[in-house]
Amino acid sequence: MKKQNIYILAIESSCDDTSAAVMCNNKKLSNVVATQKIHEEFGGVVPELASRAHQQNIVPVIHQALAMANIDKKLVSAIAFTRGPGLMGSLLVGTSFAKSLALGLNVPLIEVNHMQAHILAHFISEDNYDPPAFPFLALTISGGHTQIVLVRGYFDMEILGETLDDAVGEAFDKSAKILGLPYPGGPLVDKYAQLGNPKAFKFPKPKVQGLDFSFSGLKTSILYFIQRETKENPDFIKENIEDVCASIQYTITGILMDKLKKAVKQTGIKQVAIGGGVSANSGIRKALQEAETTMGWKTYIPKFEYCTDNAAMIGIVGYLKYLEGNFTNQSITAKARYVIQ
Ligand code: KG4
Ligand code: ZN
Repeated sequence: MKKQNIYILAIESSCDDTSAAVMCNNKKLSNVVATQKIHEEFGGVVPELASRAHQQNIVPVIHQALAMANIDKKLVSAIAFTRGPGLMGSLLVGTSFAKSLALGLNVPLIEVNHMQAHILAHFISEDNYDPPAFPFLALTISGGHTQIVLVRGYFDMEILGETLDDAVGEAFDKSAKILGLPYPGGPLVDKYAQLGNPKAFKFPKPKVQGLDFSFSGLKTSILYFIQRETKENPDFIKENIEDVCASIQYTITGILMDKLKKAVKQTGIKQVAIGGGVSANSGIRKALQEAETTMGWKTYIPKFEYCTDNAAMIGIVGYLKYLEGNFTNQSITAKARYVIQ
């Protein structure tokens, strides 16, 4: 007998992207993301503005996701939504909407941990992409997160290390801000870095125990360095932007790779998967590719669409939980701090 298709409508609203996706089993039919531009002028995400923008975006984004998937909402098997972690005001919009929609359509509701979704995004079926086999290590790097996770199964994960202060994306963005670059500056640092000498300037690496990270000290040392140099030469940034960016990127990449090497040594697992918006960084990608040849690692980088915040990654978790009959009910609430287990 032919197995019936499962259609998951997924909603993501944890930070500043409003997203909806439709999955047919483990395949993406649509994945619509409305990125909120409003935060650019403030140099970072303003929580109050983010929740307001989610309220405006959520209906059109869901409509568009259903239209692009070319399915009627009556076909939807379940609604999956991001319960946390994230900004409370943002999460509330997606959570409340998902609950109402599940009630209205009379379908099950599935709650999803955003961090788990970043990792399980590797299991969205794509041509020419084989997901990692268990167990593997996952490095999640974005504007809000920096974690190394040991993944034993879809729902058997252990956080081995995480940042004690800033996320790696923040380290890029705050460095960019010091250099007078607009928000979010990460991609611009990457762009300039590709033209510069990574060893032109040396920044100290933090001394953090175990597999945890810290990026706040790096930001301070970059700030003092720039203040010192521009005092001597007001045109220092303009004249050295490429070398400064290359040196910052080289330092951040080094910090991440040092911890990954330590995690591989500690666990004996050489399969390393990355996710999160910072996985777009050319220096980090190159370092991972090199590790395949120099250290015999097998590395996994999903399509960029699945690296940044998106609802398809919520949808794949929804599908996997649907198969297990792992549903939640209408009493569920959003959870701003939500640790994966
Ligand atoms: O995953 P994401 O889209 O949103 C969350 O923060 O959850 O990640 C955005 C972060 C920003 O900090 C942005 O500057 C950074 O990813 N980013 C990059 C690059 N592309 C995006 N950082 C360094 N190099 C890049 N190429
Ligand atoms: Zn994220």
